[in-house]
Amino acid sequence: MPRWTPDARVDGLGELLRDAGFTAETAARSLHAATPADLLTNSALYAATSPDDLTGTLPGILAHLFICNAALPSATYEKSVPASLREAFEALHLLVRERDSVRSLVSLSPFDSMYFLSDPLFRTANGAITMTTRRDLVMPPHASSLLLLENVAAMKGRLLDIGCGSGFLALSLADRYDSVIGVDINPRAVAYSRANAVLNGRAATFTLGDLATDLRVHPPADHVIFNSPTGPTHRDDDREPGWMAAPTALTTLVERLPSVLAGGGSAQILLIAELPREGPALPLPSGYAATHIRAFPESQLAVPENSVTSGRIDPGCLLVRDSADARRLMAHLHANAIRAVHPVLLTLSN
Ligand SMILES: C[S@@+](CC[C@H](N)C(=O)[O-])C[C@H]1O[C@@H](n2cnc3c(N)ncnc32)[C@H](O)[C@@H]1O
Repeated sequence: MPRWTPDARVDGLGELLRDAGFTAETAARSLHAATPADLLTNSALYAATSPDDLTGTLPGILAHLFICNAALPSATYEKSVPASLREAFEALHLLVRERDSVRSLVSLSPFDSMYFLSDPLFRTANGAITMTTRRDLVMPPHASSLLLLENVAAMKGRLLDIGCGSGFLALSLADRYDSVIGVDINPRAVAYSRANAVLNGRAATFTLGDLATDLRVHPPADHVIFNSPTGPTHRDDDREPGWMAAPTALTTLVERLPSVLAGGGSAQILLIAELPREGPALPLPSGYAATHIRAFPESQLAVPENSVTSGRIDPGCLLVRDSADARRLMAHLHANAIRAVHPVLLTLSN
């Protein structure tokens, strides 16, 4: 399958999608998701169990193409998608033709009156889902993105979003700040973030950078956020770029903070942390005016304590791929005396 090259000529696309009635609400309704946030969190589930025929409405067709990442018969495409939208999709090379159907090369996540282009995380065909496992995949906004967005501190001034991915956090928060910088280790993420800034008419600067080696911003930021690429440590394949265990992610951020965080500023890191039965879960740094920790044991990104005790992982848990992976995770938690896995939001204030 070819890949999409993020393109800055997406400026008129948002208007066309809105005119087509494709919004966070209509996408959620088409796929029978309770809310737009629920759809983003569980997009693979809704794509797998989507109504057989989404093609009765234009928002349904766009959800079928860009959220379920499913092939659409060419005849339906020609008949039901307005010429102006087809011309835009084709000029931007967002679709490929496959014999008698068309298929998207990108995922398009509508959220809160914005749109986020990213690589597709999965494809659907005949009700089956195939997950993409490319190392430099730029993920659509997902459960951890929403968790951080919903719990981010109300700050002003200069924002630095480390590991910006599709640009979801930087762009969703851009209106609150004087200036916004996003950095990512993955060049495709930087390119997607720039395209999404244009698509949504938001001012933000995105650059390539590695938190672990060379990250520096001038002037330093008042608010640093990092939705870290962390998770349980039971498997070492199929991980996202820059994947780190939670303690390493925290230590790496703390070492870099003097180069990026202004006096009086705050840094917030979201980690998926394994909590040992004994001893500290995270290497908490000293030297900050305040350190605040909040855990989210009810999240779909958690394996709560009662689950570890009972040996059963909730089917809605987003930390495992399938039942074999769930068994492997449970064996790992028991063997390593881990009492729970929780998303943890840590705030460090200068
Ligand atoms: C969990 S994703 C978060 C993406 C986006 N901020 C969001 O919330 O949807 C983590 C991101 O961190 C980036 N990343 C991993 N290691 C990094 C590093 N050392 N320096 C900068 N970015 C890194 C990855 O490429 C990925 O885009």
